[in-house]
Amino acid sequence: MEIITSFFNICYLRQIFLRLYTYMRLLVKNIKGLIQTEEKPRNKVCGKDMSVIPIISDAYLLIENGLISDFGTMEELKKGPEKSIKAHEALDASGRFVFPSFCDSHTHLVYAGSREIEFTDKIRGLSYEEIAKRGGGILNSAKKLHDTSEDDLFEQSAARINEIISQGTGAVEIKSGYGLNLDDELKMLRVIKRIKDNFPIEVRSTFLGAHAVPADYKGRREKYVDVVINEMIPVVAAEELADYIDVFCDKGFFTMEDTERILMAGMKYGLRAKIHANELDYSGGVQTGTKYNALSVDHLERSGDKEIESLLGSETMPTLLPGSAFFLGLPDPPARRMIDAGLPVAMASDYNPGSSPSGNMKLVMSLGCIRLKMLPEEVINAVTINSAYAMGLSDTHGSIARGKVANVFITKEIPSYEFMPYAFGSDLIETVILKGEEYPPTPSSLRSEQALKGEDKPPNPPEGGL
Ligand code: NIG
Ligand code: FE
Repeated sequence: MEIITSFFNICYLRQIFLRLYTYMRLLVKNIKGLIQTEEKPRNKVCGKDMSVIPIISDAYLLIENGLISDFGTMEELKKGPEKSIKAHEALDASGRFVFPSFCDSHTHLVYAGSREIEFTDKIRGLSYEEIAKRGGGILNSAKKLHDTSEDDLFEQSAARINEIISQGTGAVEIKSGYGLNLDDELKMLRVIKRIKDNFPIEVRSTFLGAHAVPADYKGRREKYVDVVINEMIPVVAAEELADYIDVFCDKGFFTMEDTERILMAGMKYGLRAKIHANELDYSGGVQTGTKYNALSVDHLERSGDKEIESLLGSETMPTLLPGSAFFLGLPDPPARRMIDAGLPVAMASDYNPGSSPSGNMKLVMSLGCIRLKMLPEEVINAVTINSAYAMGLSDTHGSIARGKVANVFITKEIPSYEFMPYAFGSDLIETVILKGEEYPPTPSSLRSEQALKGEDKPPNPPEGGL
């Protein structure tokens, strides 16, 4: 018996050793185009610069201990580091492009159930605000969330996380806001924390208690704002469950005054603002955001000269969510005017059950090109470095730079990088690498044949996944 146990122990240790050994270093070689490389990392890209994407053709990318350690041309590789790298540590990306993973800086992907009935109501002619007034919309999701256990909510959300990872997202911001009372808001925030602790994707968490006025505070909006300020924010902050604070500052939801009160309360606890602004009306949300040095103001479908003026010279990232404008049939946000005025622009999915039931950032790029008239290079900047900025991550994510976290994806064989936003319905991502490891952790079809034989074969993923 003892012999059997120690045999299994040795096998187990060998697996761990192989895993560490195999994944400590990874070389991706023969890359057709390595996208968004930076010698001198920038924290965001503005105006005209957005139409430029640094690319290395016939490139390599070297990853060590989960970080990008080097990159350059294949010619440089042959002269230098290649000799010391073993076959099983290499992926061949011939004919393929390597992108930094998408950073999705605005989602509500922790939610219960779905709302396709409202989708049909909208087709029949009801507006988003009319549906909300009838107790649908956010309040409908709040009811479903209340009736769902924390474990079930985690399972539903984990499936969405696996989905967006396979679609190329390597960093995601997730908001609360379907709780609308202390217990249920905490339930959402704990699920976000569980995602953070159990998946290799980078996660930032935002407290959005002021997403809608809950049914039991109908007609008493200010009282609910008091609850958010006095009862929710202190607990959320004490339990360290949020990085940022958000308010839905728009017609029919929260006013500029409510927003200012909530932001000031959150800022006392070190929570920086990210605001839902100017989606349904010229709400003053953009100006409130820049006044309080928000990290981002998001949506911006109703933006004119005053909003653009207020963003110029600020540190606030205008973040556009073309998926929700498309899904709700809203006017498109003026991306071209913003970029032409010299502003940076980020884009995110807004993944949520009511206005954007998709977290597909490749589709967001296509919508940016098709609807917002942004160039392929501009949309790539908007979903990588600029969206990394909009979630406080541009030092570590959003580009291919030495020392940054090795979150990248390898495409299928495609003719050009412009093909990504162009082929809007095709799934073009073949291999996802998060923190330097393939995800899910299975041997890729790209891994060299020799490596897959015998000793060099990487171990299977742990039983039962994560
Ligand atoms: O960003 N605009 C406010 N909140 C979400 C929609 C939430 C919902 O309808 O469930 C958004 O679009
Ligand atoms: Fe949103």
